[in-house]
Amino acid sequence: MTKKLFIKTYGCQMNVYDSERMAGALETSGYEVTEDQSEADMILLNTCHIREKAADKVYSELGRLKPLRTTKPGLKIGVAGCVAQAEGTEIFRRQPMVDLVVGPQAYHRLPEMEARVQKGDRAIDTEFPEEDKFDHLPTARGPKARRSPTAFLTVQEGCDKFCAFCVVPYTRGAEVSRPPERLLAEARDLVDRGVVEVTLLGQNVNAYAADGWTLAKLIREMAKIDGLKRIRFTTSHPNDMSDDLIAAHGEEPKLMPYLHLPVQSGSDKVLKAMNRRHTAEKYLSILEKMRAARPDIALSGDFIVGFPGETDADFDATLALCEEVRYAQAYSFKYSPRPGTPAAGREDVPEHVKSERLAALQEMLTKHQAEFQRAQVGKILPVLLEKPGRLPGQIVGRSPYLQAVHLQAETSDIGRIVHAQIVSSEKNSLAAQQAAATYSVV
Ligand code: SAH
Ligand code: SF4
Ligand code: F3S
Repeated sequence: MTKKLFIKTYGCQMNVYDSERMAGALETSGYEVTEDQSEADMILLNTCHIREKAADKVYSELGRLKPLRTTKPGLKIGVAGCVAQAEGTEIFRRQPMVDLVVGPQAYHRLPEMEARVQKGDRAIDTEFPEEDKFDHLPTARGPKARRSPTAFLTVQEGCDKFCAFCVVPYTRGAEVSRPPERLLAEARDLVDRGVVEVTLLGQNVNAYAADGWTLAKLIREMAKIDGLKRIRFTTSHPNDMSDDLIAAHGEEPKLMPYLHLPVQSGSDKVLKAMNRRHTAEKYLSILEKMRAARPDIALSGDFIVGFPGETDADFDATLALCEEVRYAQAYSFKYSPRPGTPAAGREDVPEHVKSERLAALQEMLTKHQAEFQRAQVGKILPVLLEKPGRLPGQIVGRSPYLQAVHLQAETSDIGRIVHAQIVSSEKNSLAAQQAAATYSVV
């Protein structure tokens, strides 16, 4: 009899990818993924440790699961992901009902851990094993293994950059790139299963280096796969933004005109304190090259406000940088001190100052996003139809610039790229017209 597995995924896209791979691993132990938590025989939380709030969510979710665990005999609860890696046995101490704790580099050991858990033991694995977990992690094949037209594909994992605020080098380990032929095979397999857009993932995806291949070469080779129509990648570090990769944006039509390039701050003093190892000017010069290679590129970034030592003048430099770049979209966060990171002991900026700065930055970013979106109105854009929308007959797709686009279309068209005329700009999406003259299937 098949057992049911419910996975709740927090954090970044890599966790989304990992959750699918964990489902694949546990399929071999007789599990099938369910979307209904109440029928689960195992609940796995795939967690994020990036900010305090993200990590706290795990314990509140475990608290909510407690009654279910108590009333449902045989239900097993596991914690995976970056909180599992960072906190390890502390999770059992704080929430004794947890059966299993598994860090991101040990997912291929899940079937064996599950077997121990079934015997009534607790299982924990937060090692960084020598072997490549992906060699031992099957892809989920079962009926519920979702197949949307878009998929993530981890090509690189881990980080050697050690930004002073960040837990990732500790939770994901050192930078490791997967062999190119495996990645091409995995991409072909995804395409065989109906995927038309692949997003290549890595904590420092543009630092990809395996068998003499760069990320640019990997993208160019992947673009040769028939049936694969769009390629994206995330997240890049400014210091690994090679000319080769920049050039690919002007030369490879399948590579989408969108670049997420976090800068964190516009102040060189803060960048230095963050151990970012680049200046604001260096960052801006990369974007300039990028725009020369692909003039319509949509730019995105990440920002941290209220890093220890950030003054009003430093923050103004961040605003000035944003004003200059005019991001199509960007993410901004209040600095959150993380245990074990170099900045954790430094004097924190008062909470109300962080809040004021975040509000000011977000106001500007929102304005720029609206400008970018409004500039799309009237254009005919190729839109990849991804999934049903909220309204009847509505389908949600993506523009090349990664905005969500709503339009009326047939469900049977999901997975297709259509040409649609953008008619209006909403807060976080665009609306497109369904008229036959402006809607053509590619
Ligand atoms: N290079 C990574 C970045 C992961 S963290 C990647 O693969 O995406 C994503 C973003 O979270 C960072 O760019 C940074 O802006 C933010 N972040 C990281 N640590 C943080 C902290 N301690 N407090 C607030 N924001 C943080
Ligand atoms: Fe974290 Fe910096 Fe590495 Fe990104 S580059 S994962 S922010 S340490
Ligand atoms: Fe979070 Fe780990 Fe991703 S800390 S952002 S889940 S790498």
